[in-house]
Amino acid sequence: MPSLSVFGAQWGDEGKGKLIDLLSRDADMVVRYQGGANAGHTVVVGTEKYVLHLIPSGILHPSKTNVIGNGVAVDPFKFLEEVDGLRKRGVHVDGTNLRLSANAHVIFEHHRLIDQLSERWRGEGRIGTTGRGIGPCYADKAARTGLRVCDLLDPDHCAVRLKAALAEKNALIERVHGAEPLGLDAQLDRYLALGTQLAPFVADTGLEVRTAYREKKRILFEGAQGAMLDIDAGTYPFVTSSNTGANGISAGAAFPPRWIDRAIGIAKAYCTRVGEGPFPTEQKNATGDKIRKLGNEYGSTTGRPRRCGWFDTVAVRYAMEVSGADGFIVTNLDVLTGFDEIQAAVRYAIDGREVRDWPAATPDFDDIVPVYASHPGWTEDITRVRRYEDLPKNARAYVEWLEREVGAPIVMLSVGPEREQVISRGM
Ligand code: GDP
Ligand code: IMO
Ligand code: MG
Repeated sequence: MPSLSVFGAQWGDEGKGKLIDLLSRDADMVVRYQGGANAGHTVVVGTEKYVLHLIPSGILHPSKTNVIGNGVAVDPFKFLEEVDGLRKRGVHVDGTNLRLSANAHVIFEHHRLIDQLSERWRGEGRIGTTGRGIGPCYADKAARTGLRVCDLLDPDHCAVRLKAALAEKNALIERVHGAEPLGLDAQLDRYLALGTQLAPFVADTGLEVRTAYREKKRILFEGAQGAMLDIDAGTYPFVTSSNTGANGISAGAAFPPRWIDRAIGIAKAYCTRVGEGPFPTEQKNATGDKIRKLGNEYGSTTGRPRRCGWFDTVAVRYAMEVSGADGFIVTNLDVLTGFDEIQAAVRYAIDGREVRDWPAATPDFDDIVPVYASHPGWTEDITRVRRYEDLPKNARAYVEWLEREVGAPIVMLSVGPEREQVISRGM
């Protein structure tokens, strides 16, 4: 398949890093198109564990081109820190296999500061952001006051734009938030120096990705976050600030929507969420604690305990439809081993009415009561299973039930964090 979109179909942390690394073997180019270092994508190779934040999860395969598209919010400091960390571990990273869009917006120190300061004002409406400056950076992009990577490469231009931006941000930081303003000269020096270090990676990535497609190269688009955190389709305002599914590729990678040949969602066999906001199937009880313990559900970026609950077919069906997904991958099936009973939401009851479609325009999800279907569990260790027919009968019954409820084929199953721990079903 020349171009393939792989995105999270829940609230993030579905196992995208592991699958993108695996699928990179059959790709020439791996492209991030949205989000920033709020992402934490884990790849486990033998005893080595890599957590990638900004750099695409294809980077561990030496011959692949990795692209950070124009839609990504790039913190230059985090970018260089990640490059450095990978190099120290023997991973080849330079301007030949990592390309950074000249048009990507830059996350500055004032964005990170304002992200953290604004949360204090939100009270009950606190989002629980990762504090990486994502929202303020995308807000400036939309307000046309942001600076892009190309601006850092032109000192005079950068001075003018950063001066104007920082004057306004400092007024906000000082007068609204009562915090210390940032010094323009120090910020300018710092970011121009970072810009110099970014220069070898900078490219017109849109042109490069489109050219690769025209040359019949295989392109893999790596989603960050999850569809339910999408700024338009997700549980607004408890979302991130970008379009996280296949819907974000066109704008965020300068890639025509009609050139996206296939889209595949990823969902855990249960569900997790980090941060605040609606999560209808959340289990704030011993079941949720058990899932967290068995699945080691702690944030890859912030270390926060993830909220845990059952699979939600209403949400996943919706997420799949918004991205036009052809199928999905179910991860962490092994984590459900040992549960007597596995539940999954099939419908929601809202004010005594039952709905099967995601209630998109609902301002408050507190009144939603999920209606569950129950499935018998299994006790056999499935982490070494590689053929579908070798899975316990009850595991297969659960998988096939999910397929029917979501209305799309499950093309692969993941039964452990390592590369090889997968069961292919026609991926
Ligand atoms: P991402 O943000 O979607 O890339 O996911 P994260 O890396 O934040 O979180 C997924 C976690 O689950 C990581 O610790 C992975 O190593 C781990 N993982 C991925 N697939 C599986 C699986 O099939 N089973 C188990 N037990 N862990 C998995
Ligand atoms: P990956 O790519 C899970 C959540 C935050 C918060 C909300 C907004 O690893 O799946 P932000 O910092 O983006 O403004 O925070 O979104 N969030 C994630 N949750 N996985 C992620 O990325 C996330 N990136 C952001 O917890 O609720
Ligand atoms: Mg993650």
